[in-house]
Amino acid sequence: MSSSKLLHKIKSMVLITSSATALLGGYCFYKNDERLFDYVLMPLMRLFEAERSHELAVKTCKYKILPSVDYKDPDSLNTRMQNIFLKNPVGIAAGFDKNAEAVEGLDKIGFGFVEIGSVTPFPQSGNQKPRVFRLIEDDAIINRYGFNSDGHETVWKRLQQLRSHQRYEGVIGVNLGKNKSSEDAVKDYVDGVKLFGPVADYLVVNVSSPNTPGLRKMQQKDTLKDLLVNVVKENLALDLPRPIFLKLSPDLTDTELKDICGIIKKKECKVDGLIISNTTVDRSMILHSQFNNEVGGLSGKPLKEKSTRMISEAYKLTQGKIPIIGVGGVSSGQDVYEKIRAGASAVQIYTSFAYHGPPIVTKIKKELEEILKEQGHQTVQDAIGKGITYQRKSWFGLF
Ligand SMILES: Cc1cc2nc3c(=O)[nH]c(=O)nc-3n(C[C@H](O)[C@H](O)[C@H](O)COP(=O)(O)O)c2cc1C
Repeated sequence: MSSSKLLHKIKSMVLITSSATALLGGYCFYKNDERLFDYVLMPLMRLFEAERSHELAVKTCKYKILPSVDYKDPDSLNTRMQNIFLKNPVGIAAGFDKNAEAVEGLDKIGFGFVEIGSVTPFPQSGNQKPRVFRLIEDDAIINRYGFNSDGHETVWKRLQQLRSHQRYEGVIGVNLGKNKSSEDAVKDYVDGVKLFGPVADYLVVNVSSPNTPGLRKMQQKDTLKDLLVNVVKENLALDLPRPIFLKLSPDLTDTELKDICGIIKKKECKVDGLIISNTTVDRSMILHSQFNNEVGGLSGKPLKEKSTRMISEAYKLTQGKIPIIGVGGVSSGQDVYEKIRAGASAVQIYTSFAYHGPPIVTKIKKELEEILKEQGHQTVQDAIGKGITYQRKSWFGLF
């Protein structure tokens, strides 16, 4: 064979192979294939610095460059938080879509609800970079973003646009924060309630992020009472008051949690739900990754048990009377089921989504559907607060 013929043949082979690979990759992407994301796309994303890949992920959702999802939520996954109906109990946690840019894309992926924020009254850039770290070996993240936010006005305009002409009717929570330099923290939250009430399905008072100096002190009895009295008053003044959720830190002591559960029962401080939990500053668990000593909030697997235990405690302290959104280390149907049995009405994920991408949402929902069936629950609602006793059957029924 002449050398030009050989070259031509090699070129054709390369072209055919790369076209076939591209077609197969495209098909797998279109089909929301877990393996494509776990073995190719997410490792590629990890070549970028963590904050850069977060930005890319938000843009991907914003421009809806997303795989199609065939899975239709079955009735068994329906749940409720007060009068908010959810098609499924898996929401995206605050901090992913801080500025309400990606709501429709996140809905398309299959999330049952989207929480945006934290939003601060005025735009602020947050802490110095780098401020997000992957702890790959621990399935965890440490972040110290420090409420980088486009501010109330810009975020409100985006939500207002989404809500106009009934363009988007999915459930949106707005997570409220305060500016770092604010001299009147209570006003920051009250302003948020007033502005976002009309465009949100629920509002979150976030006093539990570890990256804004002094913020978590707002969980202390008297400070919290003062904050909640004002927030509740403003909410009741809205044409249509919204459910208010209080997001808590997993680092509260038992006594602090008990005090908070007492306060939120009082009429003038009454919130409609709890979100448990934010990230932890606790480092007492064994962590294996290079960045385990970075300052900031730890999320993901190492947080899982701690947040589930706290959900269980809060459920008991509130006699199951208010809904709890369970957050912290959820990455499977079983994790969701455990949080629901501990007392959660719904859950949220962030870190597992950052590691596995869109297919994890359908994976979690399918697993949960299976577990509910196996355990004889008609819906999520039937399993709420039933206690943490469940052990998934092994394949061989041996243990
Ligand atoms: C990078 C990053 C940024 C976050 N930003 C916020 C935030 O702005 N407001 C908030 O309430 N929680 C924020 N969180 C906390 C999450 O909402 C969630 O409570 C926590 O990560 C635990 O869930 P996970 O283990 O599924 O990640 C953030 C978490 C991460 C990882």
